[in-house]
Amino acid sequence: MSYDARFKVWRGDADGGDLQDFTVEVNEGEVVLDIIHRLQATQAPDLAVRWNCKAGKCGSCSAEVNGRPRLLCMTRMSTFEESQTITVTPLRTFPVQRDLVTDVSFNYQKAREVQAFSPPEDLQPGDYRMQQVDVQRSQEFRKCIECFLCQDVCHVVRDHEDNKQAFAGPRFLMRVAELDMHPLDTADRRPAAREQHGLGYCNITKCCTEVCPEHIKITDNALIPLKERVVDRHYDPVVWLGNKIRRR
Ligand code: SF4
Ligand code: F3S
Ligand code: FES
Repeated sequence: MSYDARFKVWRGDADGGDLQDFTVEVNEGEVVLDIIHRLQATQAPDLAVRWNCKAGKCGSCSAEVNGRPRLLCMTRMSTFEESQTITVTPLRTFPVQRDLVTDVSFNYQKAREVQAFSPPEDLQPGDYRMQQVDVQRSQEFRKCIECFLCQDVCHVVRDHEDNKQAFAGPRFLMRVAELDMHPLDTADRRPAAREQHGLGYCNITKCCTEVCPEHIKITDNALIPLKERVVDRHYDPVVWLGNKIRRR
């Protein structure tokens, strides 16, 4: 069954833009990305949108639908009333390049700032057997498709552009947590989590977890444990004394 839906799609570039109205055909089983493609095919051939897999796995088609960060390819049209006007806008936290395409290089910059996995130098293949619990913990975090919806929604940078310098965002704090909890990682990542990656800016609003299309429990399984580990180290009297003696 087909019907005509009303869409508002943001069109513009770094210098500004506006919402444009469209009436467009919707067919059973379609997702928002299908509708954007139909607009390109019929009414707006130069409409810019980034996508790749159309299967919720490449993380390219991130945008905002009715103000909520979403993957366009995983947002079913059947979740909306036929009479509803659907508004599609680019990710708000990152600079617009054109139409629905944003420049997400902030995230690659933050990725580069995380120290790489640092196993013991003399470790040979087969020397260490990972426990299943450690494998499972990493596996949850490794489901990340780098869609950056969590980075987009977190109010620390969404509402405060000037925090971008000091805050890595949930995706990369989760990476720090993953490495810090890895049994073979020799780096002490806790000082950097506080000072370089801005862990203290996160006040556990959990919006990141709510929008994650991979249903990773970013806050409960990564950010809160990392905060606990940082606090333990910071306020542990033995560590504190050790730091003091070393500084002399
Ligand atoms: Fe996307 Fe989830 Fe990865 Fe964040 S943690 S980038 S929301 S998949
Ligand atoms: Fe932001 Fe997630 Fe923390 S939304 S404030 S990083 S819990
Ligand atoms: Fe790949 Fe949507 S097109 S996640």
